[in-house]
Amino acid sequence: MAGTDAATEGATIVMRVDIVTIFPEMVRGFAREGIVARACERGVVDIAVHDLRDFTTDRHRVVDDSPFGGGPGMVLKPEPFFRALAHIRETRGEPSAVIVPSPQGRRFTHDLAVGWSRAEHIVLLCGRYEGIDERVVEALATDEISIGDYVLSGGELAAMVVADAVVRQVPGVVGDARSVSEDSFARPWLDYPHYTRPAEWEGRRVPDVLLSGHHAQVARWRLRTALERTLDRRPDLLDGPGFAAEAGADVERTLREIRAERQGSRSGRQERKQES
Ligand code: ADE
Repeated sequence: MAGTDAATEGATIVMRVDIVTIFPEMVRGFAREGIVARACERGVVDIAVHDLRDFTTDRHRVVDDSPFGGGPGMVLKPEPFFRALAHIRETRGEPSAVIVPSPQGRRFTHDLAVGWSRAEHIVLLCGRYEGIDERVVEALATDEISIGDYVLSGGELAAMVVADAVVRQVPGVVGDARSVSEDSFARPWLDYPHYTRPAEWEGRRVPDVLLSGHHAQVARWRLRTALERTLDRRPDLLDGPGFAAEAGADVERTLREIRAERQGSRSGRQERKQES
């Protein structure tokens, strides 16, 4: 596919990603642009997209059939997936992970992305319709993962989400490694707000501290706004084991300050309400 064969010549391949789908063009589009495409061009990553229909044996290239037991919709047949994976094993080597995106899977997280980014080779098998014959999941998959509590029309978007999150963790893919290490979820709290020029736009000014050139104050402001956002939007992250493990004294102190200030302004408001 574009961005793999010729581009990988002469370079050390760090990671191979194989994606099996009935919509190969949808997935190839993703691999043709942006960070992932650049990683392919530079030979850091080698993405191969396989059309599930190429692994059928009938004239009509049928990949689905009605579900045993009745019910609506169609189910993707097992044989083409078994043949596709056998072909991948033969031509591209044994994968470390065979991932099936599915709403029934465990939740995809940053930690899983980091783990898979250390693998030499991962495979993603995309389902459509009502799903994939369960024997594919039982016999071939090492992992079944969901990217969120909603149902997509197929596994392709989820596979692209996983591939993107994994590939950007491969060393050398993102130019400035700090971008990756400072990602939200690289730390178990949300990211701080970002601004660029102009310093004022339609009456909205960039916070003065970011223009001050005072690095320690900038760092303090960033930590504080990151923790304020996390408290407002994802307080669950602050109770998780990841937070306890990662939060240093600075983070704990800043969080205590924010909570104390909020508690103070809440009780102040209550007092004023009672007085009036
Ligand atoms: N396929 C359909 N919905 C999905 C989801 N939420 N996550 C992963 N794969 C899916």
